[in-house]
Parts: sequence; structure tokens; C-alpha cells
Amino acid sequence: MTGLAIPRWLRAGRPGWTTTADVIVVGSGIAGLTCALRLRGQVDKVLLVTKTVRSAGSTEWAQGGIAAALDPEDSPEDHLHDTLVAGAGLCDEDAVRVLVTEGPARVRELVDLGARFDRAPGGDILLTREGGHHRDRIAHAGGDATGAEISRALIEALDRVAQDPGIEVIQHALVVDLLQDADARVCGVTLHVIGEGEHDGVGAAYGRAVVLATGGLGQIYSSTTNPPVATGDGMAAALRAGARLSDLEFVQFHPTVMYLGEGAHGQQPLISEAVRGEGAVLVDDAGVRFMQGVHPMADLAPRDVVARAIVARMRDTGAAHVWLDARHLGKEFLERRFPSIVARCRELGFDPATDLIPVAPAQHYASGGVWTDLDGRSTLDGLYACGETACTGVHGANRLASNSLLEGLVFGDRIAEDIARRFAAGELPPTTPARRRRGDSVGLLDQSHRIDVQRAMTAGSGPVRSADSTARTQQVLGALLAGDEVATVTTGAWETTNLAHLGLALTAAAHAREETRGGHERADFPAQDDAHWLGHISHVRTDATINVTYRPGKGFPR
Ligand code: SIN
Repeated sequence: MTGLAIPRWLRAGRPGWTTTADVIVVGSGIAGLTCALRLRGQVDKVLLVTKTVRSAGSTEWAQGGIAAALDPEDSPEDHLHDTLVAGAGLCDEDAVRVLVTEGPARVRELVDLGARFDRAPGGDILLTREGGHHRDRIAHAGGDATGAEISRALIEALDRVAQDPGIEVIQHALVVDLLQDADARVCGVTLHVIGEGEHDGVGAAYGRAVVLATGGLGQIYSSTTNPPVATGDGMAAALRAGARLSDLEFVQFHPTVMYLGEGAHGQQPLISEAVRGEGAVLVDDAGVRFMQGVHPMADLAPRDVVARAIVARMRDTGAAHVWLDARHLGKEFLERRFPSIVARCRELGFDPATDLIPVAPAQHYASGGVWTDLDGRSTLDGLYACGETACTGVHGANRLASNSLLEGLVFGDRIAEDIARRFAAGELPPTTPARRRRGDSVGLLDQSHRIDVQRAMTAGSGPVRSADSTARTQQVLGALLAGDEVATVTTGAWETTNLAHLGLALTAAAHAREETRGGHERADFPAQDDAHWLGHISHVRTDATINVTYRPGKGFPR
């Protein structure tokens, strides 16, 4: 494939202000907040940068819950098994082991911090089930508002230390690019702040380490469950700086996103998998339950299996969506267990207690991202990544439901420990950014082209791909980026360009992988092909071009 040239920098004005911290944490979801709060007190100064306000990221929107083996009948080993099966052969077992063994303790610490999970009358945390889990191990809060509750608890913990000079928060700040010293070590970020006073406009933040926890890239598609801020800013900056990105082709399409019509665009209402966990079932236009016979777990099969079965049923019947039937769960139960979902459905004209809910798959989660080791270190010294931005190897080709909040919690904590350890050992001393080479920041895409990027990605690199569709998408994105229009430098233009850069990389991987596995479905290669594709596709930018490499092997390349 051609057209994989991307510049080192997004075009931006010269930094008009600077600030310095020991560690810069970018992102205020569960991963970023956990990391920043753990680092505070262990290093002299943490700078937490958030794109809009602290609660605007994907964590806030998480409904179902957080998976952890909290039940005495459950075990990390069982959780490991379910995670590996969902990951379709490509999880890194060491990373999953870390996730499932450290997870329960981290969740209990979250409770100590103030997170209020739903409890049984006896006081135990209530646990439910979601797709791919053989046990009830999903802790939830506010019924279906788990992310919002976790976010509240973490932000309140941050507020308690707001006067501490050891932590500074800059809100409304889009990270533009990573700063590197002469040896390519990451030593800061450039960012644009829509603020006033000290930090306004383009600036530079210098630090001994940078942690990217900027969430996912859902806005690369026309419809997604992700909030508008999910434009892949951290992943794209890491790609341009030369960090390894892995497994980008494994995009998770959530099976049950409310279908609002063909023209629906942007963030769409999620109907949590926990609704099926409590007994709701999928039916087609004729009222037929089609998941039975597709997988032994039927409606609670792993997410990729259910999404694929829905797409197949829609193709076979010519329907634009299928239906979720939760009516038998009853009004009282539905209102108590899923208050936010029920309210949203009713706002949109469907009452889950009496009506079938129209649903279709939509983009939900990026299983790939910035490659990291077990301590969250990327391939660039000084650069860490966690949460959806990272590819730790725990998700493989398809993330198990409710493992994402857990991943942010566990690896956010590990990154803080690793940085503290390295600082104590005298590693990562302060350094200065190298001078930029001229001509390295071309090709900013005007924000009016965002819709073109989204359409091209949805048509060619969406839930079902082929050699032709990915080639067409690659062509469209390449042509857009090669256009010589002089885009106005705006937040929207930076975001749109980030989406296009990631779209090129993702599409190259989707084109290369000639099989169907996990979140990657190829119409022209409908079977999983372990003989040729049990391995990982990575991207590294060198000499202005993204190099796409395939490395065979079950484990994650370390
Ligand atoms: C859901 O509630 O269905 C989403 C949970 C997740 O993405 O893990």
C-alpha cells in the first residue's frame, strides 16, 4: 500500500508559554487520574492535562462496570481464561495475568478512595455478567452509571489535593505533539490551551516523563459510542514521534448501540451488554432469536461474535438493525437496574419495558494503540501509555467486556510505581528538546474534512472490510492528506489530522491482515487463519514514513 507518509509535527504556532513538571499525565479518565494521584507525593510535581473538563472522557460514559474476580467462588485464573478466549489467540498472557491478579486489590482501593459500587442487602458488592464471562464478576455503580461514579470518586480525590503544589491541572488543553531530546527521549508536550492568563494558546510543557492516557479514536468512524473528545490525539502524537503502535486493526464494534436511523452521526446511545447479562435477548425483524446456535454462550458470546452475527443477520434480511428484547425483565427491575439506559431510551421514544429496542453495532473501543510493556513503557524512552491509548497486550484481537476500566486502573498504578522507581534510581534526568527540523510539519487537514475521513473509514475499514474497501479508504485518506490546501490552524484541524493519520495506519493493518479474527472481519477472508496470521501488526514511523511490520507469534512482541 502507498500513501503512508506522515509528518513529524502538526502545524502549530511557536509555544508562547512554558511550564515544567516532573511528570506530565495527559488525560483524565480512570487511567490518567489513577496514575496522577499515585504519582503525587512520589515525585515533586505532576502536571495533569485534560482536553476539556476533567469528566469529559470515555470513563464517564462506561455503563456496564469493571470486571474483577471479587467473588470467593471466582478466581483470577477463571478471569484470565475468559480474557484469553475473548482475545482470539492474540492476548499477551503475562499482561493478562498482571491484569487479573492485581485487579481485585486495585478495585478495593478504589472503594477505599470513595467509589460507591452497588451492594447487596448484606453489604457485598453486587456482581453481574457480560458477554464472554463465565461468572458474575462485573461490579457496577448507579445501576448502569459505573464510569460516572468512578470518575466522580477520582475527581473528588483530586479536588482534595487541589491546593497541593505537587499537582497542577490544566483543562481545555489539546496535546498537539511530543517533544524529544537529541536522543529521541520524550521530554514534554506541545499543547494548545483555550484558557486565559498564564496558559493560553500554544505552549510547551517540559517533563522527565510523559504519560499518554488520552483515550481512544472512536471519532474516526461516523458512529461510535465514544464522546466527541475521542479523536486519538495521544496515539497520533506517539505515532508521529516514532513510538510503536500495535494491533490497530482490532476495533471493537459494540453489538447493541441504539439505532437512530441511517443519518445518525457521532456519539450514539449505548445499551450496555449488562442488559443481556440480566437476560435480554437479540431478535430479528421476524422475532427470531438468532444467537442460539451461533455460539454456546448465545446472546452472551464474546462481543466480536455477537457483532458479527448481527451484521450477518442484517445482511441476510436486508434490515438496517436488529432488536433487543428486554421486556420480560419487567418495568420495576429495568428502572432500578438500568436507570440511565431506560431514561435515554424513553427520551428517544422506546420504552424497554414495553418496546423492542432497535440496535446495531457501532464503534466502541480500540483494542490496539501505543505498544507498552508490563510497566506501561512505550518504545520511546520517557514515554508511557495507559488505558485505551495503550496496547498492553491484555485485549488481543477483542477486549473482554468491562476489562477496560480495570486495565486503566491496574496499568495506571504500575506506571506510577515504575516512574517513581526510576526517578529514585536517578533515571530519566531532566533533558531539553531538540530543535525542530524545518519542513517537518506539513499537511494539516481542515476540520471540514472530518466527515470525509469518517465516511472513508466507515465504508472501508468499518465492521466488515475487504482488500478493495481498505485500498479505497487508503486512497481517499492519502489524497486528503496530500491536498495542498492551507488549512486554518484550529483545534478541529489538529483533531481531523490526527484521525486521518491514525486512519492511514489502521487501514494499512486492516488491509494487510487477510483473515477474520476478533474485531477485524474481512469479507474476502472470512475464516481465522492461525497458520499465517497468529501474530501482531505494528507501525513505526521512521524517515517520514510509517513502516508496517508483521511479527508472527502468539505472545505480544516484547
Ligand atoms: C457495556 O456496558 O456494554 C460496555 C462495557 C464495556 O465496554 O466493557
